[in-house]
Amino acid sequence: MFGKRVLLIVTGGIAAYKSALLTRLLVRSGAEVRVVMTEAAKRFVTPLTFEVLSGNPVADDLFAPHTEPEIEHIELSVWAERIVVAPATADFIAKSALGIADDLASTTIVSSRCPVYFAPAMNQAMWRSPTTKRNIETLKRDGRFVIEPGSGDLACGEEGPGRMAEPGEIVDVIESSFGRGELQGIRVLVTGGRTEEEIDPVRYISNRSSGKTAFAIAAEAKRRGAVVELIHGPVDVPPPDVDAAREVRSAAQMARAVKRAFPKADILIMAAAVADFTPERKSRGKMKRGEEVVSIRLKPTTDILASLNKSDKTKVVVGFALEDEESDRKAMEKLKTKGCDYLVFNRIGPDTGFSTDTNSVVIYGRRGRIASTPIVSKREIASVILDVLVKDKRIRQKSNERK
Ligand SMILES: Cc1cc2nc3c(=O)[nH]c(=O)nc-3n(C[C@H](O)[C@H](O)[C@H](O)COP(=O)(O)O)c2cc1C
Repeated sequence: MFGKRVLLIVTGGIAAYKSALLTRLLVRSGAEVRVVMTEAAKRFVTPLTFEVLSGNPVADDLFAPHTEPEIEHIELSVWAERIVVAPATADFIAKSALGIADDLASTTIVSSRCPVYFAPAMNQAMWRSPTTKRNIETLKRDGRFVIEPGSGDLACGEEGPGRMAEPGEIVDVIESSFGRGELQGIRVLVTGGRTEEEIDPVRYISNRSSGKTAFAIAAEAKRRGAVVELIHGPVDVPPPDVDAAREVRSAAQMARAVKRAFPKADILIMAAAVADFTPERKSRGKMKRGEEVVSIRLKPTTDILASLNKSDKTKVVVGFALEDEESDRKAMEKLKTKGCDYLVFNRIGPDTGFSTDTNSVVIYGRRGRIASTPIVSKREIASVILDVLVKDKRIRQKSNERK
């Protein structure tokens, strides 16, 4: 959600403590976050917490003396691209359903002009009450979105529906609301993770790729409406929920799987760290230790990208390169020799490259640099890569045709 402007309204329920994590996750996803709190919310969590987590002052007073020419609730509602009310109390839901505007939070809702999401949180009896039910229906009829609460142990000691959706779920809903449809009908093939090249039945040569970047890309493509197929090597984290996921082991298996899936794909994103070398011969039995020095001869593996039939020029191919040093010339050379449309270049470093949660990339197109990022989460990297792809003429055209 790089650069997206999200206004979080925190109202006075126990679940306000979860909104601290929600703020953190929104910021981590790249969004710019501002927070409004009701008076009751401030009894549960201090504004300082949200100020520190969002990096912005918390607004809470409709009548605060203002130095800016703009009136705060109007400025906030113009600024926001999405408003999330989390937790949304029974009281705030009722006020919003009626259009009551007696504090900064409720006045901002009445003056809002972007999609508004309510994440209710309350005791199960409050949630089941006919008034809350009616108010929720009214909000939905008015075009507001409700992120349904879950069921289970409630903070009040009772059990039942009313538990606020988890912060991660709320972020997913907001993220997909931004991306919906951009890749509708587009088939995206993503490769990820490492490969393992067997030396003998128990040993192999591999690398430190975790698969996190590819998984973030696959999840982001899915969020934007694509049909996503993932081919991945052995990984440390579970793959995201996509249309098809297939695990392979060696570079040769990866090459075969990609070759088979490529004809159906509109976009191929080769984020896998495929081994460049594989043992020339694999020992049938476990190699025994002796006194002698053992050498393993390595032969180059198939260069998957270079070996694909890229005669269909409507397909978009994205390669990845991991190098010690950044060089525009080298990156452009690689882009051309591999026949890619885009090349995502990342440098090896303590916070970048394999197995970290963060990375910093430069994206090249056929005419040179297109985008670059500072060190950010892999989720944000995925978002920047897909932002580039959705602007590609071929993809826009196909997506429009298939909508
Ligand atoms: C300890 C405590 C916990 C509360 N938890 C909730 C809650 O989870 N959901 C809710 O709707 N109201 C809850 N309330 C009631 C609200 O705080 C109260 O209705 C308040 O007026 C809401 O104000 P606001 O909607 O302006 O934030 C709680 C009150 C107390 C004292």
